[in-house]
Amino acid sequence: MSGGGAKEEPRGSSWDFIWNPRTHELMGRTATSWGLILLFYLVFYLFLAGMFALTMYVMLLTLDDYRPTWQDRLTTPGMMIRPKGDQLHIAFSVSKAESYNGLLSSLDAFLSPYNDSVQAQTNDNCPPNQYFIQEDSGEVRNNPKRSCQFNRTALDLCSGLVDRSPTASSGQPCVLLKLNRVIGMLPGKDGQSPYVSCGPKVYDVNVGPLAYFPPNGTFNLMYYPYYGSKAQVNYTQPLVAVKFLNASLNTDLNIECHINSNTLGDIYANERDKFAGRVSFTLRINA
Ligand SMILES: *[C@@H]1O[C@H](CO)[C@@H](O)[C@H](O)[C@H]1NC(C)=O
Ligand SMILES: *[C@@H]1O[C@H](CO)[C@@H](O)[C@H](O)[C@H]1NC(C)=O
Ligand SMILES: *[C@@H]1O[C@H](CO)[C@@H](O)[C@H](O)[C@H]1NC(C)=O
Ligand SMILES: *[C@@H]1O[C@H](CO)[C@@H](O)[C@H](O)[C@H]1NC(C)=O
Ligand SMILES: *[C@@H]1O[C@H](CO)[C@@H](O)[C@H](O)[C@H]1NC(C)=O
Repeated sequence: MSGGGAKEEPRGSSWDFIWNPRTHELMGRTATSWGLILLFYLVFYLFLAGMFALTMYVMLLTLDDYRPTWQDRLTTPGMMIRPKGDQLHIAFSVSKAESYNGLLSSLDAFLSPYNDSVQAQTNDNCPPNQYFIQEDSGEVRNNPKRSCQFNRTALDLCSGLVDRSPTASSGQPCVLLKLNRVIGMLPGKDGQSPYVSCGPKVYDVNVGPLAYFPPNGTFNLMYYPYYGSKAQVNYTQPLVAVKFLNASLNTDLNIECHINSNTLGDIYANERDKFAGRVSFTLRINA
């Protein structure tokens, strides 16, 4: 019984390259051949995935949740101001409340976590002029670590709490300065806290007398070393406020503030980094 050709075999048809019924080849390969290829790729990709997982695992083992593995050995951190304004340009008109209300409310929001009541709840009243060291003892973590209080009232005339309206409308604005956080940085020795000085960048402009808060414009040593936001959950960066008491009106004042410290070295010696330990901004007070 031959089946009488009931099954038509398209001999040598142009579809043979997909399924050749004579040789039982799919796209020119037998089932065994395809099986071997699939097996090869399966093993190959499993191997790649395994390599990836292993590398990842080894890398994660070397990471520490509380310390960055890669931190630039930067000796001097940058500084930043508040309010930032546009391109570090602060401008307002003494006679137009709408020109400075925005600046004041952004300062208010920024200073809110520094409220004495908040600080009393979250942070410690530390002894000043010395580091607040909280090292881990070997493998035993000493986390979370406490932080020191920085009370908003320490900013006195710049706290936005006293003498409120005159801050900007009197033409005596305050600018807040902070030092960028660097984990483990020790910015002073012999009980001498680093302090800020500000002055005109161009010597022919009259910046007038300045007042610093806290007194002498210091970042007290008790706020250092910083252990990272994960270890020191309630850390509030220390601030220095500078108040312009009699700055020239209607002119762009180019101001530079820099840090002075007996450990951070001479920031002007660092030709490579013109932002190390200093910040420049322009202030324009219109009448
Ligand atoms: C901080 O104090 C200001 C002024 O008294 C107040 O408006 C603000 O709500 C306070 N913020 C917090 C978080 O307590
Ligand atoms: C901050 O303010 C609180 C509440 O007024 C006060 O008890 C504390 O001594 C102040 N801390 C510092 C460091 O001045
Ligand atoms: C952080 O502040 C909260 C209150 O907001 C306090 O309960 C907690 O103990 C503080 N934690 C540390 C580590 O200072
Ligand atoms: C400010 O500096 C002067 C002179 O360097 C010093 O006598 C004074 O005690 C300092 N004041 C504070 C509050 O650190
Ligand atoms: C403020 O500075 C101007 C010069 O820019 C000067 O004439 C004036 O006497 C100063 N005012 C005070 C109170 O020092």
